[in-house]
Formats: sequence, structure tokens, C-alpha cells
Amino acid sequence: MSNPSEAELIHTFKGIPFTTRSSPELLESLDTFDAREDDVLLVSYPKSGTHWLAGVITKLYNTQVTLTSPIEFGDISKLEELNKLSSKRIIPTHLDYNMLPPNFKNKKCKMIYISRNPKDTAVSMYHYYRDNPHLPTVDTWTAFFDLFLKGDVVCGSWFDHFLSWEEHENDKNILFLFYEDMKKNLPKIVKEISLFLGLSVSDNDIQDICKKSSFSEMKSDTEKENNDPSHTVCALTSNRKLIFRKGAVGDWKNHFTPKQNRRFDEIFNEKMKLSKM
Ligand code: A3P
Repeated sequence: MSNPSEAELIHTFKGIPFTTRSSPELLESLDTFDAREDDVLLVSYPKSGTHWLAGVITKLYNTQVTLTSPIEFGDISKLEELNKLSSKRIIPTHLDYNMLPPNFKNKKCKMIYISRNPKDTAVSMYHYYRDNPHLPTVDTWTAFFDLFLKGDVVCGSWFDHFLSWEEHENDKNILFLFYEDMKKNLPKIVKEISLFLGLSVSDNDIQDICKKSSFSEMKSDTEKENNDPSHTVCALTSNRKLIFRKGAVGDWKNHFTPKQNRRFDEIFNEKMKLSKM
């Protein structure tokens, strides 16, 4: 059987490429989504550590919470499905700030945005493209590098995504986190998340959560539970085995040529000149 064509896998909505696993009707109807005050949004550009953060957040609660699939994943029945959930909802999304259902903003729902060095994000996404049948084929790292810099990848430009959220970094209901900080000192970040969510968690519990959220633990849990596709928090796959690859900081150095690195830095400096990053 031949590989599906790009048009069968990708469509563009408001200028942003989405996989066909996010139906245009669903994307169109997001504006009418009815948020609840106690919803928590887990926001990321793909490959920034979404599953890691989701693992931490769900372990912090000792009341019943439901980690849903991403709000933009599925067809028009999705919103109804979310409406029916009676427990507190932790809702992941890769949407940029402008596309987020306005109700989440009006109701000042808590949102946690996780970001990662875009060079490592690009490398992680390259491997994801290669392994994921729901994404178009990419032949080489060089070809992917160009697509990434142009924003011609699912969820669009990393720069636009980050900047759309960074504009709101002082909003009290948004917590900004970095993958690299989680790698450096996970207990500190877990504490920060628990305070932001208004949860009281003991130091022992934090140690325990960090242990259970290590890359090796999460990867091996996934190998045990891979039959259950509902556990994915990425709109681009239901196969959790594709998520846990290396879990390292700085893998970009194994992929970028010096010339690519210079070009990336130039574009980064240009696009991010108004950013505090
Ligand atoms: P790599 O491809 O660099 O290994 P997302 O969940 O947003 O799709 O991000 C996936 C990236 O987060 C992958 O990066 C994955 O390995 C990494 N990751 C997942 N769980 C992790 C953990 N517990 N610790 C560190 N990195 C983790």
C-alpha cells in the first residue's frame, strides 16, 4: 500500500497546518466551546514535554480528574464528549493563543504553557515525523530543518506559537514552564505547579511524583499500557510509544551542522527580537 499523500494527512485552518485528525468542523466550532472555571489547560507546541507535564499534573491531584485528549483532536462530536464529563477536566492543546476558545480566556481558566529550546523541539519533531504514520514523509533532516524554520509543519511556526503565548506571560492565570528547568530541578517545578494549582502537596509526595515521572519510569509505564490509546495527549498520534524517544537536553548538537546552527540563530534573533527569551 502506498503512503497517504500530504493532502490526505494535512489541511490548513486559519493559515496553520493541522493533521486531518483535527476536523475542520471541530476547529470551526472551537469558538463556541463552553469552558468551566475549574478547567486546567495544558498548552504546548508539539514535542515540548506535554506528556511529561501531563504525567506530573495528574499525579498532583488526589481527587478525581480527567486528562482528556487534546481539544483540537477529533471530529465535531468532541465538544459534546467533553461537555459530558462530570469530573474536573485537564485539557491539553497545541493551539496558539489566538485560536484558543475565547471562553477559556473569559473565565480565566488556569493554563500551563510548557516550552522547550526550539532546536531540541525541531529535532524531536523530526523523529516524530519519521515515525508517525499520521504525518507526511520527510526524507532527510536537512529537508525537515527547512520546513521547521518556515513553519511549514503541523501547528505552524514555533516562533509564532511561542510569541502568541508569551504576550500573556503576565496573566495571573497562566504559568510558563520550560522543559530544561524540569530537567534541571523537577521537584522545584512540581512545587511551583502545585502552588499555581492551589494544591497542597507534601515534600514526600513531591519526591514520589518526581520519581514516577522520570523518563525511564514513564517510558516503561507506556510499554505496559500501550494498548490503551486514550492515554495520548498529542493530537498527532494515539501511540504513546512514539513519545518517549531520548528525553535529553541538547540533542540538537547531534543533528545541526554549524551552518544550520548559524541560520537558526539568525532567524531566532530576528523573530524573537521583542521576546524576553
Ligand atoms: P525527545 O524526542 O527529544 O526524546 P511531547 O510530549 O510534547 O510530545 O514531547 C515529547 C518529548 O518529551 C520527547 O523528546 C520525549 O522523550 C520527552 N519526554 C517525555 N517524557 C519525558 C520525561 N519524563 N523526562 C524527560 N523528557 C521526556
